[in-house]
Amino acid sequence: MTLAQQFEDRFGSVPAGIWAAPGRVNVIGEHTDYNDGFVLPFAIDRATLVAAAVRQDSAVRVSSTFSESGEIVVTDLSGLKAGDVDGWAAYPVGVLWALREAGHELQGMDLLIDSQVPVGAGLSSSAAIECAVAVAANELYRLGLNGSELALIGQRAENEMVGAPTGLMDQSASLLGKEGHAVFLDCRSQHAELVPLPMKEDGLALLVIDTRVSHSHATGGYASRRRACEVGADIMGVPALRDLSEADLREASGLLDDETFRRVRHVVTENARVQAAVELLRTDGPRAIAPLLDASHVSMRDDFEISCPELDLAVDSSREAGALGSRMTGGGFGGSAIALVQVEDVDRVSAAVTDAFDRAGFKEPVIFAVSPADGAGRVS
Ligand code: GLA
Repeated sequence: MTLAQQFEDRFGSVPAGIWAAPGRVNVIGEHTDYNDGFVLPFAIDRATLVAAAVRQDSAVRVSSTFSESGEIVVTDLSGLKAGDVDGWAAYPVGVLWALREAGHELQGMDLLIDSQVPVGAGLSSSAAIECAVAVAANELYRLGLNGSELALIGQRAENEMVGAPTGLMDQSASLLGKEGHAVFLDCRSQHAELVPLPMKEDGLALLVIDTRVSHSHATGGYASRRRACEVGADIMGVPALRDLSEADLREASGLLDDETFRRVRHVVTENARVQAAVELLRTDGPRAIAPLLDASHVSMRDDFEISCPELDLAVDSSREAGALGSRMTGGGFGGSAIALVQVEDVDRVSAAVTDAFDRAGFKEPVIFAVSPADGAGRVS
């Protein structure tokens, strides 16, 4: 059955259309987005689809192909407040809520969601849902918002309806991505530039190694890292860590406690690595950024402390087997690592990582190649 037929089956009417939004991997620039810094993600060739139709009332009915029972979650936008919706429905409903909060006129919708972005793998399946719903609502209600504006709506849904204090990277990648390119985003100005990422042309592949260790950014570590960054910026007397450079780290080490200093050092050096990576991509191509990927991982492992044994093993074993560079990607505490490998080494690296996980007694990782794809839009 097609998604349109499934929609008809569940809701008893035909959808107005189908929209798609991809997941993302981040090439480099981790935990820099909420520090007003730089990120370099790309939209991947795996997307979330939404079949959608407008309603004449303010009800929202959402269902998904991954809820086997065919359950339909029904909410009403009128009177809805931040935090009112639980579970995965908070993402789609949160987007419609955030649009109304931002002053846009819209009624309810019927939404059927079909995710091809692995859930919990750190590839932003949640942002993909938000962005698919955002582009559908934008078009059906003729809101006229651009990708950067829709990214802010998705972020607000996630921050306020879901309760995860995340930054702007994932939604920006999903909305602004372009085939063959990474998105270089300045998270302060929201200025985005597309940077060519010719992987195949250069005989390279980017492998995702999903450790299958699940993580949640609504609780625990993510929020505490964000707080440490705010404390660091405050003590250093700057609006955000973006305003510090590597030259300021000496002064920072005298003013901050050791842990806060290491959190700050990660963000400051990571921002520098993103800018260096963009320069290198432009002059020398993707192969040249491999050492920056390695350095980014070390910084996250030792200074920001958001890695875990499975991510470290994914990075170390892929490097030993010939990957050119490797790092965890996304928020951390689980999810995926990425490894930059020569095409002819893909099978060897994959087998070596799987073997290392087996020997360590970890769950079997899921390993696959991704390439930079187009951002969200209508598919039918
Ligand atoms: C998660 C968040 C992003 C970003 C990354 C870390 O993916 O959703 O906003 O902070 O973690 O770089």
